[in-house]
Amino acid sequence: MTQTPFIIAVDGPAGVGKGTLAKALASHYNLALLETGLLYRALAFKVILNNVDAQNEDEVASLAHTMTASDTVNSILRQDHVANMASKIAPYPKVRAALLDFQRTFARTPPPGANGTILDGRDVGTCVLPDAPFKFFLDADVEIRAKRRYEELLLRGIDAIYANVLEDMRVRDRQDREREISPLKAASDAVLIDTSHLSIGDVFEKACAHIDRAPDPKG
Ligand code: DC
Repeated sequence: MTQTPFIIAVDGPAGVGKGTLAKALASHYNLALLETGLLYRALAFKVILNNVDAQNEDEVASLAHTMTASDTVNSILRQDHVANMASKIAPYPKVRAALLDFQRTFARTPPPGANGTILDGRDVGTCVLPDAPFKFFLDADVEIRAKRRYEELLLRGIDAIYANVLEDMRVRDRQDREREISPLKAASDAVLIDTSHLSIGDVFEKACAHIDRAPDPKG
């Protein structure tokens, strides 16, 4: 008998809390986690390091074929200049095709000992894993997301200006939602969670309630 793999897709815009939810679910259900945004950031960092012309889709795509999971483990990937480069190269169809293979292989081959996999991003439920048995799409008001991001930066000792954080968030929303290829949108079968007025714990409980209600969450 073939078992349904235990795969969770969590999508949503920047600053909505999908990374936090994905980490909590990964630990609760013992799943291997891939933050797909980190993949795009890791590729962006390679582009910067190797002085690759970011306008040249073919060159960026050939670099995308060299990605390994260890490339995503680097604290520098969280920096803004890397995020900005990531948003420039993420719309390239050839880049997305190369990273699609990486993400699907990760999803389908959990490491020994893991019960399954969880991926968070923008297009995991719609494009990367349309057959994932569990899909969540998180959303929240842009002002609330910007406020959370602003407070997080202050906590990390970074001197930020709220108006700039909000403007950056609006620009990234537009880029993510309006791009032609793999735009940010909820899959028709995704569970929608508006996190605007929910705590991290509330969001986690909603997601767990949905997973635990399923006939056999572990396949
Ligand atoms: O979620 P993040 O900020 O780490 O994402 C970095 C960039 O990668 C952002 O510009 C959106 C893009 N991205 C994407 O296009 N598709 C994904 N599945 C994940 C991220």
